[in-house]
Amino acid sequence: MRMVDLIHKKRRGEELTDEEIRFFVNGVTDGSLPDYQISAFCMAVVFQSMSDREIATLTDAMAHSGDEIDLSEFGTLSVDKHSTGGVGDKTSLILAPIVAACGAKTAKMSGRGLGHTGGTVDKLESIPGYRVELSIEDFLKQSRDIGVCVIGQSADLAPADKRLYALRDVTATVEAIPLIVSSIMSKKLAAGAHSIVLDVTVGSGAFMKDIASAEVLARKMVEIGRRCGRNMAAVISNMDEPLGHAIGNLLEVEEAVGVLKGEVKGDVYEVSLELAAAMLSLVFGISHEEARKRADESIASGKAFEKFKEWIAYQGGDTACLDDTAKMARARFSHEVKSPESGYITRMETEAIGNAAGLLGAGRMVKSDPIDPTAGIVLAKKTGEKVKKGDVLCTLYADREELFPAAEKAFLGSLSFGKTAPEPQPLIYKIIR
Ligand code: URA
Repeated sequence: MRMVDLIHKKRRGEELTDEEIRFFVNGVTDGSLPDYQISAFCMAVVFQSMSDREIATLTDAMAHSGDEIDLSEFGTLSVDKHSTGGVGDKTSLILAPIVAACGAKTAKMSGRGLGHTGGTVDKLESIPGYRVELSIEDFLKQSRDIGVCVIGQSADLAPADKRLYALRDVTATVEAIPLIVSSIMSKKLAAGAHSIVLDVTVGSGAFMKDIASAEVLARKMVEIGRRCGRNMAAVISNMDEPLGHAIGNLLEVEEAVGVLKGEVKGDVYEVSLELAAAMLSLVFGISHEEARKRADESIASGKAFEKFKEWIAYQGGDTACLDDTAKMARARFSHEVKSPESGYITRMETEAIGNAAGLLGAGRMVKSDPIDPTAGIVLAKKTGEKVKKGDVLCTLYADREELFPAAEKAFLGSLSFGKTAPEPQPLIYKIIR
């Protein structure tokens, strides 16, 4: 078989056989295919797409390209959640202990942030002492003992995706549904959970800018997961403004603690609880309403917060700063950003806000960039709120004062103001089961 023939065939819009797709994935994994042929193939897929059968084979081959985690000892209790990315998205920190407090097993591998989006592993690592690298034996033992464990993704999980993603990122071939589906689902399948909830975000801070494309992506991922024997659901959620008020690693941990203590409500509470309910509904085969009730009760009873502390302590993290967030480390400098005009905030360009947090040190543009755990932004106002000229819109946090002017400019440039309030948007557009 020759790769050039496969590229031709896909370029003409023809369907590839399973054998051809497996040849491609093997060549990506073992390094026998050069970058230029892989990139040309991805570009052909961007223009010609793939059938559901092709996507299923591609996903399956990529899922089997490296390590696979065996969670079978947990039967149908293991559950995972994946978000397609966002800004201020700390839902994993909130829902993992809720779901564990309700009796399911959240044995989860999470990613780091890149570009404008944050990553759960960076947020957890901002808690002093928390260990994101555990052996698989310790990962399983902790999940067995307390029902929740979150670690960084093992280096050899879906290595075919690692190589493909790095090439797609620099060849303008990220935005193709078959490539996104296989990339996300191969990692989730290899991570082993029986039930998987996908949070497909839509809006100015998300990959998917409109609901129709998000729904196509969500339905395809649900379909592929089911074909591979997993229990699947997808939640299409709003990422047209940052989720909650905190953006930045430790600042987000603090907000998550507020939600788990029952002190913080609003959008971040709502979205986290809906995702937790979708997970519990899949695991226990109960209605969404019953699952939501159990999730709410876990917060009201204090069980979810206790589970959170048990989890963090088990992985070596300092829980004193969770009991009393005044003990959390703070950035050396803070700076209030004032409104340049009066009116309603009609729009927040969320990706730009994520980038502004990155400029303060909360994110990274390339993988090797260091992160400042205390850096970030706390919003005082969000879309739809009325402001007067001079009102505080947000507070910036950084370790160096000279980082403030560029971040302030980026933040202010992300806002639009108007004379009338914008139509409120739903937080959850749809749940696909
Ligand atoms: N996230 C992934 O892991 N892969 C993609 O292709 C897009 C988002």
